Amino acid sequence: MNKKEIKWQKQVLKDFKKKSPSKIKIESKKIFKKYLVNHKNLFENNLKFPIEMFDKKKVLDLGCGTGEVDIVLSSFGAKCLGVDFNDISIDRANKLKKKYKIKNVNFKKSNIEDYKVKKNFYDISISFGVIAHVYSPENLFKKLVQSTKKNGYIILGYVEDAGLIQRLLHRAIIRKLKISDDKKVFSFAKKLFKEHIARSIKFGLRSEEGIINDYLINQAYVGNSMRQIRGWEKKYKLKIYSKCPDASIPFRIDPGFQNHELRANIKDELFAISALRSIFAQKSDETIFYKMFKKKGNFISPDINKFVVLLTKILQRKNNSLKNKELGKLKKFRTNISKKILAQSEVIKNFSNKNYDLLSDEIINILIQISKENFSFKTLGNKVKFLFRGYNGLGTTYIIFKKK
Ligand SMILES: C[S@@+](CC[C@H](N)C(=O)[O-])C[C@H]1O[C@@H](n2cnc3c(N)ncnc32)[C@H](O)[C@@H]1O
Repeated sequence: MNKKEIKWQKQVLKDFKKKSPSKIKIESKKIFKKYLVNHKNLFENNLKFPIEMFDKKKVLDLGCGTGEVDIVLSSFGAKCLGVDFNDISIDRANKLKKKYKIKNVNFKKSNIEDYKVKKNFYDISISFGVIAHVYSPENLFKKLVQSTKKNGYIILGYVEDAGLIQRLLHRAIIRKLKISDDKKVFSFAKKLFKEHIARSIKFGLRSEEGIINDYLINQAYVGNSMRQIRGWEKKYKLKIYSKCPDASIPFRIDPGFQNHELRANIKDELFAISALRSIFAQKSDETIFYKMFKKKGNFISPDINKFVVLLTKILQRKNNSLKNKELGKLKKFRTNISKKILAQSEVIKNFSNKNYDLLSDEIINILIQISKENFSFKTLGNKVKFLFRGYNGLGTTYIIFKKK
């Protein structure tokens, strides 16, 4: 590990020691049952991975946190090894193991970067919510691939770049307000980003503090793009088995849309449009996109891709600066997308007027405001009416690869 990496790891460990985001109160039988049902639903319904596929299988979990996921998988019959560098989390994982008298789970304290995985040994290797925080995302992914047997599975839980933009905006606001005291970050976030946090609690069952710590206190929060994921699929000779939200028609909020007829050769277009949808979701996908995909041509993926990449670049910048040239480009992409959406159909027009135009203008407005020296949250005033509401943004995306 080089110096920069060591420094990075120290900071991440320090942040996670303050409050482990994975801490779900599964000591309570009621919460445990709900957590179990959520995971059963995730694997069986959303990922088409029946839980019997875990039975008697060797599972490696890199970045296991407090071990809840492994406890669930072991109840599906798996033999799990969870690895995490936070000793506080590992201690709690061992306590849970004892409480539920589970034999087929072990936990080990180790840094993933130093951990020598047993090669081609595990039937299934998983990592949920870790890749956003590691120094080298590809190294983590490579370890998952190396540890998995041929015909085995790799399951990754990550955040997609577009689905992260709303949270990056929250981070940029906190950074700009120079709130360095964690307690203040918590109370500020609870007030301002209330709906977003409530939604995360509802779907992820994590605590309010855990969520805030994960996305606002931690130094790094990096998303992965579908382009990158598909690049890894090719490079490491894998095959995407399933994804939630769906990969073939990659809707983010409403994965129920499965019309085979429309799965023509327009993957890039679909990925890009769904990236936009991750930022601006307000309505059922079925309603919005059916007509759009029926009509080929007038594709807008280049503009959407550029929009997402530039937004991410600006938001990941520590000093929140926004160059005039960049603002010009953002406005240009935004207008191009808008025009092309409008050219689609009545349904899309509705989506465009109600969601995309208003919300993308809000994003651009926030960027302009936070790039100013004298920024205070009040200066945003009623410029943020819609963005921090509803279903905008996206939680964890899960993807399963099969090793060829
Ligand atoms: C958001 S939590 C997710 C925990 C768990 N996988 C879950 O889904 O509940 C991220 C975890 O990654 C761990 N982590 C981050 N970087 C790590 C590293 N380099 N080595 C080991 N663990 C790491 C943290 O300690 C933390 O427990």
